[in-house]
Amino acid sequence: MESTTATLNPQLTGQIVQNQIRTIGINPNYWYAVAWAKDVTADQQITPVKIWNQEIALYRDQTGQIQAVEDICPHKGVSLHKGSVKGDNIVCAYHGWEFSPAGECSNIPYYPTDQKLPRACLRTYPVRERYGLIFLFPGDQSRADSTPMLEIPQYDDPNYLMIPIGAEFESHYTICNENTMDVFHGHLHQNLQGWYDPILKQLQQTENSVCAEYQVSYSGIMTNFLGLNDSSGQTTQTITVDYVYPNYINTLKGSSFLYLMRLPIDPSHSRSFAMMFVKVRIPRWILDPIRTVLEPVIRERFFMRFLRQDIEMIESEYSHYKQDPERRYVEVNPAIIAVQRLMQRQHDRYISEQTKISSHHQPLQSQDRQAS
Ligand code: FES
Ligand SMILES: [Fe+2]
Repeated sequence: MESTTATLNPQLTGQIVQNQIRTIGINPNYWYAVAWAKDVTADQQITPVKIWNQEIALYRDQTGQIQAVEDICPHKGVSLHKGSVKGDNIVCAYHGWEFSPAGECSNIPYYPTDQKLPRACLRTYPVRERYGLIFLFPGDQSRADSTPMLEIPQYDDPNYLMIPIGAEFESHYTICNENTMDVFHGHLHQNLQGWYDPILKQLQQTENSVCAEYQVSYSGIMTNFLGLNDSSGQTTQTITVDYVYPNYINTLKGSSFLYLMRLPIDPSHSRSFAMMFVKVRIPRWILDPIRTVLEPVIRERFFMRFLRQDIEMIESEYSHYKQDPERRYVEVNPAIIAVQRLMQRQHDRYISEQTKISSHHQPLQSQDRQAS
């Protein structure tokens, strides 16, 4: 559903947060990043991942291509990732039933060879490897091909240094997503000389996105690191925070980019896969041989220090929500309210589509237990 862009008032104003937002599910009819590609190895290992309560087993077939099947054996419900990979197939640890990448049971080792195998099917998922990540489509399979995937044009550009950053949160995904839109929390990172004096300049939304433009000031290590320094050692820049459901694309001055892919695992756990692209001002012949050394150093010394502070705040917010889900909180940033409305809208859209499907006498998928 394409929609027009609406401009929202960027003025800060107090609003009561509807805590129902912490109970919503996801719209699974999008491509979600579920793992770093390097973590799904080609040595017949099986990697379990979870997206909004759906347990999925990832493995590579003989050609190295990723396969994604439901991580629950149709025989007795054992996790298939405890089993093994045999050729292109996955074999359950318990009784050795074997399943093809199409999800069909292709062998039961103790079954009479002259008898037809029982119908015991595994759900399979559309899955693609791109940008060093595994993307999976957990919703209606027939919509996967026509649903656009995230584009990361800087990925192959050698002028950028790319720093991958992964994180896990004990939190509902909505709290994590609000943190990414929330440029007013520079206070938290002040000891790291993060940023200061943010102003929300512009706010726009479409049916599936919220785009905010903030003006932010930097000094100290941040200006040096992002190559923003002028003679005074401080600078004011525009940062664009674009939440294109279900991912974030943040742009600083058109030169640094942060792509953040959120994985909602279940109502109280989330992950993120982020890639920071920084244009470095050193010649390629110096940069290229030291990329792999530079990347973990910058991640640990720089980004992880910010991220650990964010994780502490996000988890604290979530634990107080859990203690008292009825308690109301106050928000003043209209960009956060817009992000909440977008997540709610996407969830509602999915639920209403499911309801239409079920009224056509098809079973309602139990994907969204939290909402029902
Ligand atoms: S539970 Fe998987 S083969 Fe029996
Ligand atoms: Fe932060």
